[in-house]
Amino acid sequence: MCAIDNSVNAGKPLPQLGKAPIDKIVASMTLLEKVQLLVGGTDETYDGVNKIKIKKEVPGVVGQTLGISRFGIPATLLTDGPAGVRIKPVEVNNHTTYCTGFPIGTLLASTWDTNAVREIGTAIGNEVLEYNCDILLAPGMNIHRNPLCGRNFEYYSEDPYLTGKIAAAMVNGVQSQGVGATLKHFAANNQETLRLHSDSKISQRALREIYLKGFEIAVKESNPWAIMASYNKLNGTFTQQHYPLLTSLLRNEWNFKGIVMTDWTSWNNTRNMLDEVKSGDDLLMPGDVTQIKDILEGVKNGKISIAEIDRNVKHVLEYIIKTPHFRKYVPSENPDLKAHAALTRKIAAEGSILLRNEGDVLPFNKNMKSVALFGAGSYNTIAGGTGSGDVNKPYIISIAQGMENAGYSIDSDIKDIYTKYLDFEKKQYGDKLNRYAVEDPSISKDIIERVAKQADVAVITISRNSGEGKDRHNTPGDFILTSNERNLITDVNETFHSIGKKVIVVLNIGGVIETSSWRGSADAILLTWQGGEECGNSVADVLKGTINPSGKLPMTFPLNYLDIPSSKNFPSDYYRQEGDGNNQTVLNTKNLGYTEYEESIWVGYRYFSTNEKTVSYPFGYGLSYTTFNYSNAKVKKQGNSYIFSVCVKNTGRFNGKEAAELYITAPKSNIEKPVRELKAFAKTNLLAPGESEILTMKISISDLASFDENSNSWITDAGTYTACIGASVQDIRQEVAFNVKNYAQKVATKL
Ligand code: GLC
Repeated sequence: MCAIDNSVNAGKPLPQLGKAPIDKIVASMTLLEKVQLLVGGTDETYDGVNKIKIKKEVPGVVGQTLGISRFGIPATLLTDGPAGVRIKPVEVNNHTTYCTGFPIGTLLASTWDTNAVREIGTAIGNEVLEYNCDILLAPGMNIHRNPLCGRNFEYYSEDPYLTGKIAAAMVNGVQSQGVGATLKHFAANNQETLRLHSDSKISQRALREIYLKGFEIAVKESNPWAIMASYNKLNGTFTQQHYPLLTSLLRNEWNFKGIVMTDWTSWNNTRNMLDEVKSGDDLLMPGDVTQIKDILEGVKNGKISIAEIDRNVKHVLEYIIKTPHFRKYVPSENPDLKAHAALTRKIAAEGSILLRNEGDVLPFNKNMKSVALFGAGSYNTIAGGTGSGDVNKPYIISIAQGMENAGYSIDSDIKDIYTKYLDFEKKQYGDKLNRYAVEDPSISKDIIERVAKQADVAVITISRNSGEGKDRHNTPGDFILTSNERNLITDVNETFHSIGKKVIVVLNIGGVIETSSWRGSADAILLTWQGGEECGNSVADVLKGTINPSGKLPMTFPLNYLDIPSSKNFPSDYYRQEGDGNNQTVLNTKNLGYTEYEESIWVGYRYFSTNEKTVSYPFGYGLSYTTFNYSNAKVKKQGNSYIFSVCVKNTGRFNGKEAAELYITAPKSNIEKPVRELKAFAKTNLLAPGESEILTMKISISDLASFDENSNSWITDAGTYTACIGASVQDIRQEVAFNVKNYAQKVATKL
């Protein structure tokens, strides 16, 4: 039961949602009904006397709003997550309601292809619809401030422009299916350590230019139905009760028209339910009785006005009226999982990033028939991260299975070793084994020598996994290779090279790891991230050359973790103890109870490029099996915008796609600016050798602005700007100078 019927006005015809004006419905509701609607009705509600248990309409769905049937208000269902719908598979009409495990958010961003991301969003949105839900709790889009954030796999990039564009494409895809999407976690939720308590202390400029800009782009370019406020504090106030953030900025400045919901927070004495409602947080999820009682009490003793309640109720009803449940859509419970699997296989391959390809060893040539697959991840391939970003997938194709599906024979000696090892590990992890990147065993040199004689080529998979609720560490087995992994790469490299055979390393990871110390020992390195249920087939499609990888890095791979500016202000060496969240000493500790974003805007390439620091692989970097030439870059002014065009030609031997990146270098100014900032990008269609395509990219004068804290304004200085168009932030192929008048836009909100 997830709707209540307080038929107190029985007999008098009541206004019905969708037929009567919403204001009329709000005016007819009792105070209790209003508050029941503002507090999620996931597991329970309150009828003014008793707690009422609520049964979930779809098993495993993570959130519900309460239905109030006397006004024709249905319950609605909220479901995770960024890599696919997260509900509990059950038997319905002789099939199981599995959901497609799509590629992780970071892989989607690696495509630099908003059309591809929109396609994925459309498929996920279709599964939300057909599995009887109303809104997806995705995209996750917090900035990769530090590579050790445990949830970076769900998020997109170190750059706010790429983040915003990919998020908008995801939302537009999902919402094309008549269901909602939710931008999360708003805002500055850039670490998992003590996330329910930690205070992100950030300058106004870094907030505006880095941590809010992606959300601003996505709000303005995709009209998401919802935004989820994060757990953390922002400059001393919980974002869930942060009026400047949730109302002044989001609604009054950005003109956001959807609903704001909390992240999944039960009542506790550190938060103030009344402040949450007053701040413009419309929906307290998942919802509990204490919250309802708190708010009713607040109204009674005059601490919160009916007008504030009614404002939020109106937002929630405006959301409900858009939902499939309100439209009485009859779901099939049977979306086209085969088509979605084919799509995820293709996009996971396209979004793979070719980091190294010495002597064009990839794609495999025709006589590479037998493959020695090293690394536990070759057989226990990680398809996605853990926590609410996980998906109950129907299957996971490992790299070994993918290579066999592609017609390669997998060396049985080495396969047996890893298979036995994993069988032993299964005793500990059970059916969750494929969520764990188990530690690689050591492989003796004589086994490697024996296998080298039998196989044509070696592939070594390095796997990592991470998830919600805890951050990663700068340690072996996490950011750094273990000694077993390092020895394996060294020994396989020496042995296979001694007999003229090649070695490929596949990175099956959810976030950045150290690469510079070992990359010279591999002929090729393919960064496949976590590609969803079809990941093994996607990897095989790339190694075989069926698909030419066209992914590019959405973040920087540094030489060392400590090169990263934020490494000084991140809990990379913290291991949570029970009760730390209530331990005031811990909460008063730097990087635990609060995190100083001391690096300000100097995140990722903004720091490394401006300071000419050497990195292992730069932002925007990715090779191809073919080569591309950029030429004929031009600009023309159009009102307050600038239209850039560039010709990209395939000058190599393979069909391929190329993402062209447009960075802007601003003239000297009285505020320090990065040497270049990403302001546009565009990706070609699949070009055959010799084919070319003219790409066009548009930038407005406001896109060129930096945030000036003194005047609390966006300011574009007049002067000569340079558009740097290239294949990565360090590989600029064309430059175009253009003159710009000055522009200023004062903003009212300080956060
Ligand atoms: C979690 C996550 C959020 C998720 C929600 C519901 O704690 O932070 O991303 O959507 O709860 O599962």
